[in-house]
Amino acid sequence: MLEELQRIKQEALERIAAANDEADIEAVSVSTLGRSGALTEILRTMGKLDKEQRAELGQASNAVKKELEEAIAIRKAAIMDVVMERRFKEEAIDVSEPGKRLLPSGRLHPMTQAYREIRDALIGMGFETFDGPEVEYEEYNFTMLNLPKDHPARDMQDTFYISDRLVLRTHTSPCEIRALLTKEPPFRIAIPGRVFRVDEFDPSHSPVFMQMEGLVIDRNISLADLKGTLDVFLKAVFGANIRTRFRPSYFPFTEPSAEVDISCTICDGVGCRVCKGTGWIELLGCGATNPHEIENCGLDPKEWSAFAFGVGIDRVASLKYRITDIRLLYENDARFLKQF
Ligand code: DAH
Repeated sequence: MLEELQRIKQEALERIAAANDEADIEAVSVSTLGRSGALTEILRTMGKLDKEQRAELGQASNAVKKELEEAIAIRKAAIMDVVMERRFKEEAIDVSEPGKRLLPSGRLHPMTQAYREIRDALIGMGFETFDGPEVEYEEYNFTMLNLPKDHPARDMQDTFYISDRLVLRTHTSPCEIRALLTKEPPFRIAIPGRVFRVDEFDPSHSPVFMQMEGLVIDRNISLADLKGTLDVFLKAVFGANIRTRFRPSYFPFTEPSAEVDISCTICDGVGCRVCKGTGWIELLGCGATNPHEIENCGLDPKEWSAFAFGVGIDRVASLKYRITDIRLLYENDARFLKQF
């Protein structure tokens, strides 16, 4: 019996030493110490022995059991170290490795960039945004803006008519009417939007384009407020180095009316192809809101005075990003858009 015990121990120790993974060591443990393992079998036969032999064998087998348990624990710990080491190596993540681009990333359209710069400049000056529909009453698009029935701008050539009463708005100015009819003055609003005109699609025209309208109404608004506001606004958008120039003009909804030029962003006023040698670039229309328009909206023009302006967002985008053909802004060729 004792010899058999030694043999079991020897064989188990060899197998423990040779074990290479968790399964090997588990197998030794089960086949030796398990419920029907070799060592357990021996203890079962002890009943046939006499008392003395039984005590001796009991002691010896307990010693073997303890020794094997220890050997198994030590080998198992060593195996686990190796296993963990391997897993750490296999599953390691190199956090310094650059990410993979699965999709090409997009960027903001130059029109969106120009729009946001314009909007942010105005918001920084206390304006809030205001919105209106693209399909508009011709009443708001023209009549209430003091555009008489026979005004050339109402010519069928220029305007997309939907019906007798409805047009695709030709400018964002009808939103001035909507604001004056619904909002309590004083207020300052910036109105972005798409506008439509019957026009050829050529390097400087598009039948649909974007405008930003501005309207400020308060008590005692003067032309000086208009000039100061536009000068600060345009410097915020085009840079502090540009100069602005006001030229008298005519719009039915302003009195007096002006157009604003900025010094050419390409040649800085020297004269070049873009400014046709003048050093100036025409940029926007503006003026002191016509008292008729204020009155048309139910406000007293003796109490309230206002100024307004309208600027083409595509015009700003083409000047800022030096785009010579505005069709590029509407065709959305990714190779073009990628450059901004
Ligand atoms: N609505 C004009 C246009 O589309 C631009 C404009 C001029 C807007 C003068 C204004 C203004 O508010 O006061 O050409």
